[in-house]
Amino acid sequence: MSQKQFLPFALPDIEEEEIQEVVDSLRSGWITTGPKTKQFEQDFSAFIGGNVEAIAVNSATAGLHLTLEAIGINPGDEIITTPYTFTATAEVIRYLGAHPVFVDIDPVSFNIDPKKIERAITPQTKAIIPVHFAGLACEMGEIIKVARKYDLKVIEDAAHALPATSKGEKIGALDTDATVFSFYATKTITTGEGGMIVTRNPEIAERCRIMRLHGISRDVFDRYNSTSPSWHYDVIAPGYKYNLTDVAAAIGIHQLKKVWRFHERRKQIADRYNEALSESSIILPPADNDYEIHAWHLYVIRLNEQSRISRDEFIQVMSSRGIGCSVHFIPLHILTYWKEKYSLKEMDYPNAYNAYKHAVSLPIYTKMSDEDVDRVISSVMEILG
Ligand SMILES: Cc1ncc(COP(=O)(O)O)c(C=O)c1O
Repeated sequence: MSQKQFLPFALPDIEEEEIQEVVDSLRSGWITTGPKTKQFEQDFSAFIGGNVEAIAVNSATAGLHLTLEAIGINPGDEIITTPYTFTATAEVIRYLGAHPVFVDIDPVSFNIDPKKIERAITPQTKAIIPVHFAGLACEMGEIIKVARKYDLKVIEDAAHALPATSKGEKIGALDTDATVFSFYATKTITTGEGGMIVTRNPEIAERCRIMRLHGISRDVFDRYNSTSPSWHYDVIAPGYKYNLTDVAAAIGIHQLKKVWRFHERRKQIADRYNEALSESSIILPPADNDYEIHAWHLYVIRLNEQSRISRDEFIQVMSSRGIGCSVHFIPLHILTYWKEKYSLKEMDYPNAYNAYKHAVSLPIYTKMSDEDVDRVISSVMEILG
């Protein structure tokens, strides 16, 4: 057992600028949604480009819920998505009384297999939610093509995908209805908890903006800063409490400025893992390339028969050596609620199930030193013999 300090699976990278900006918010007296949230939205839409509007929310889960509501999802509708995701992607569908229809993943990328989508479409299908697993873009051209053919909406779950690209275009700027990013503590940039909806559709943007704050027709900042009476507002729908606070946006403004620096470090770590582990028997994540950006939110290896150790034992031994690992994901179809609700069996989605059985997420984050990276590599190599 190593005497070294425990290397956590993930850590946020917060520097002095974020701290000072939070202090500034606290001192300013404006701690909930206000000028910093507005600035974060403007900066984010400028970063994505393509004239998208950005709507800040307090989680990607909230953002996904709002976008589905905004495109008019109703009870009984069906939405196609992947079982190889976090439960948030599918739970928001249930919030609206609609049903997720799972489509198995591609065994290499772990992204939804576009060739299988068409078979899952029924007269009830209204939308597709692709998830860019680990930060590698789905085959969006294929997905958009099938969506157009059947008049379906596309909402991208880009929780892992800042700053990923698809055919050279930033995720968020593609020709889909909306894209939702997550700023949870472990993501490629963070606000602690937080998320961002981006869309080029002004109606979706407007609806999300209103519904993120109780269905009130004017947001709080406008109410207190406009010339008409500040106490007056109207409610046009039973909305939600999903607004991002300025305290969180203060962190986000500075995190966003560092997105490329953070990305470069993640990519360096991924490249180092790829190089060092290529001699081992394990299967590495799909190769990165020069013309596409992989966000490298996660670095997922797969054990196989030659590994001589089970996935669970592997994680156990890594932990006993002071290295935190994780599993992405336990597929939804084997989790109690989803399994029972839709009578699903393990082998209904064999690629998702097999991916899960062998997957290990290694630590990959900007605060890791080169020594930390080498420590992970030597542990993996020693365990695999
Ligand atoms: C694929 C995916 N979608 C959605 C979410 C939800 O993000 P948030 O925690 O910001 O609600 C996560 C969170 O980890 C995720 O991994």
